[in-house]
Amino acid sequence: MLVGLGAVSTTFIAGTLLIKKGLAPSIGSLTEMGTIRLGKRTEGRTPRIRDFVPLAALDDLVFGAWDIFEENAFEAATTAGVLEPALLEQIRPELEAITPWPAVFDQRYVKRLMGTNIKTGANKLDLAEQVRDDIRQFKESHQLARLVMIWCGSTEIFLTPSDAHQSIDAFEAAMRSNAEEISSSMVYAYAALKEGIPYANAAPNLSADIPALDQLAVENGSPVCGKDLKTGQTLIKTIIAPGLKARLIGVAGWYSTNILGNRDGEVLDDPESFKTKEESKKSVLDYILQPDLYPSLYKDLCHVVRINYYPPRGDNKEGWDNIDLVGWLGYPMQLKINFLCRDSILAAPLVLDLVLFLDLAKRAGMSGIQEWLSFYFKSPVHAPDVYPEHDLFIQLMKLKNTLRFLRREELITHLGLEYYD
Ligand SMILES: NC(=O)c1ccc[n+]([C@@H]2O[C@H](COP(=O)([O-])OP(=O)(O)OC[C@H]3O[C@@H](n4cnc5c(N)ncnc54)[C@H](O)[C@@H]3O)[C@@H](O)[C@H]2O)c1
Repeated sequence: MLVGLGAVSTTFIAGTLLIKKGLAPSIGSLTEMGTIRLGKRTEGRTPRIRDFVPLAALDDLVFGAWDIFEENAFEAATTAGVLEPALLEQIRPELEAITPWPAVFDQRYVKRLMGTNIKTGANKLDLAEQVRDDIRQFKESHQLARLVMIWCGSTEIFLTPSDAHQSIDAFEAAMRSNAEEISSSMVYAYAALKEGIPYANAAPNLSADIPALDQLAVENGSPVCGKDLKTGQTLIKTIIAPGLKARLIGVAGWYSTNILGNRDGEVLDDPESFKTKEESKKSVLDYILQPDLYPSLYKDLCHVVRINYYPPRGDNKEGWDNIDLVGWLGYPMQLKINFLCRDSILAAPLVLDLVLFLDLAKRAGMSGIQEWLSFYFKSPVHAPDVYPEHDLFIQLMKLKNTLRFLRREELITHLGLEYYD
């Protein structure tokens, strides 16, 4: 179940349908293509992840969505303009069958959008009950065994946790009184967690990452993860930065700018939604470079992030990074990156992985924050007393070790002394 039937959601749904029919390759998905080494390097055991852990099959997936626009998934995919019309034609009936349920929406949280497919209710608790009804009816009508909810809706304005978010009682009271602190995405998250369903936030806004919903997730056995899919410029940043840090190369400045012309870009053109995104994009370098441990290399780093809404490019984003480096004896150097990427093409395989891994986590009895899925996010949700892990390679190791742990396989430390005994 996808909240928001926009570019990311439709590219994920259409992609999964095309892959099932053998019409396109599943590039970028760990659950489809990834392998995992087991045991010693001499053992030669490297199964595909999907053969190692019992993931749901693509054939078993059924899609549902909420959106503020009435367009079905075929129309929404056409509007998004990510996939070629000829490709969409081949799965047209399946896409046309997915029409969005009316959304929980309030323009207070997403200023640049207005739609007509919107629920009305006495208060936010009542709206959450309506979402729970949608969930139950979807489950019933398709005879589904299990569900996963992913927020792929627009980025909401920047909110910080407040009193209303501290306990389930306070949260429910705030829902009853229609408090501003309860955003639309929190209403969906609450509904999912009440139903014991896993929930992931693909966008950067505050959603399930508050104490009240964390507690609800643990109580109801729902695994939760987020937030803000790590694609595009930030993906490259978390690939390059650990390398620079590993070689102790100083960074005086990192200027990132990009142009984007899809609806996401339009929403992010609003300063309040951009602030949410900016916070998420900027935090990664602080954690990867550890300026407190290496003040002479990174303390004065000037990090600037810009997103410019530029309609002609649609979903095809172009990003530029200028990195001012400092080397041996303080000599300056520069690194320039020009990434011509496709936002939703990078995001869709991550949504597929999250659906399958969250479903696995639920069956394995895991609940609350799933830090092992940090690999997918710019702002990984984490326990309050640890800092988030942003290094892509450590995140991947953590993910794979979690899978080994679930299958009672030896964890891989990369020590390797045994080969030389
Ligand atoms: N594409 C990427 O690489 C990427 C990476 C990280 C995060 N994201 C985030 O993922 C989200 C989706 O991106 P997108 O490109 O698909 O955007 P999009 O604008 O194409 O789609 C978002 C959809 O959500 C709908 N929506 C908004 N509020 C809603 C609500 N309350 N209930 C139901 N539907 C609602 C909108 O009508 C729209 O159809 C955005 O928040 C974006 O910032 C995308």
